[in-house]
Amino acid sequence: MFDLKTVNRFLPGRYRDRIDEAVETLSLLREIRDPRVLLSLGPSGVRGLVWKRGKQGVPSKVQASHSAHFDFTYPADHPEMQVLYQRAKQGQWDADMLPWQISVDPENPEVPLIPEDFIGWDDLHVAGIRLSDKERQRLLYSVTAWMLSQFLHGEQGALFAAAQVTEAVQFFDGKLYGATQVMDEGRHVEVFHRYLTQKLGKLYQVNDNLFVIIDALMADSRWDLKFLGMQIMVEGLALGAFGVVYKLTKEPLLKQLLKMVIQDEARHVHYGVLALRDHIKNELSESERQEREDWALEVALLMRNRFMAYEVFEEWAEGTMSREQWRQMVSRAPGMVQFRRVMFSRLIPNLREIGLMSPRILPRYEQAGLMQYFTGLAADKLSGEDLVRSLDSN
Ligand SMILES: [Fe+2]
Ligand SMILES: [Fe+2]
Repeated sequence: MFDLKTVNRFLPGRYRDRIDEAVETLSLLREIRDPRVLLSLGPSGVRGLVWKRGKQGVPSKVQASHSAHFDFTYPADHPEMQVLYQRAKQGQWDADMLPWQISVDPENPEVPLIPEDFIGWDDLHVAGIRLSDKERQRLLYSVTAWMLSQFLHGEQGALFAAAQVTEAVQFFDGKLYGATQVMDEGRHVEVFHRYLTQKLGKLYQVNDNLFVIIDALMADSRWDLKFLGMQIMVEGLALGAFGVVYKLTKEPLLKQLLKMVIQDEARHVHYGVLALRDHIKNELSESERQEREDWALEVALLMRNRFMAYEVFEEWAEGTMSREQWRQMVSRAPGMVQFRRVMFSRLIPNLREIGLMSPRILPRYEQAGLMQYFTGLAADKLSGEDLVRSLDSN
């Protein structure tokens, strides 16, 4: 049988990496078991992974097709969302109040952006990447800029998704709350962009897999899928990721910036749980619920397996080590392991809470090693202050 992996071993590095990339793209589409999920993610997969739309350096147009839901009777229809709306109004903050006067030297080992163990130095060494102390600092700087760039691109997606959901959602109290979230996301775009351009002087293009998710959500006409994708999956994982960097960074401006963003994001995920819990339980048929359940698992796996910082690989290691070796390094590096652990400990309890982890899907989560997070607290039980406190204390 024709085995690409074997053929790959005999090819020069550049061809080998291109084939590795193509195999990865194909396996992504092949792994999706539910044809309805393939239909929803497939076209975005082609646009993002094959055509690389996110990396063409020109504005990218995505056709949106949801319906705006108007209600001229202005019902008070969701008391918990009303409370969140009040909290969100009171929690607004101005990005200018952050200590932007702090000067940031991204290569200063005395004030590291992220700790040394974020990277698997031994794996790099074995693969032929030998770096001086100065170069090691520079690689850590690249990895931080890559992560923060993806946060920024995710925030742009969140801004548009929040605007779309505000139009489409049927809860009137949800629309008022949604208006505050649109403002929050605009502010997040502002602070990440400002930090990356003014303090780090480095901005990476959108990761292809993140582009796939954003593209699929923008184009999908079903509001609950946008909600699920943006509020629970992308925001839930981002909240975990922000938490890890907040906890680990010694750079005071970044720490303060993330603390403020985390408190906003905790409200956003809380809103996602409130809106989806009732909808999934009461409005969807069992077949529709199963489709969401499958979709959530595919996206969770996409996020776990495919955020491999290949953009950093292309800059630092392409030609010396293979993509496969890089992937192994990223999946084993202690910092990255912690990163994934915290992300999923935030996400999985929310999926459980909204009814998307029924016994039929649990074996697949078990197989993916994600069941250990099943019993954690969901976002409706965790305020932003609780989150920051728990990150500060351990
Ligand atoms: Fe955000
Ligand atoms: Fe958000």
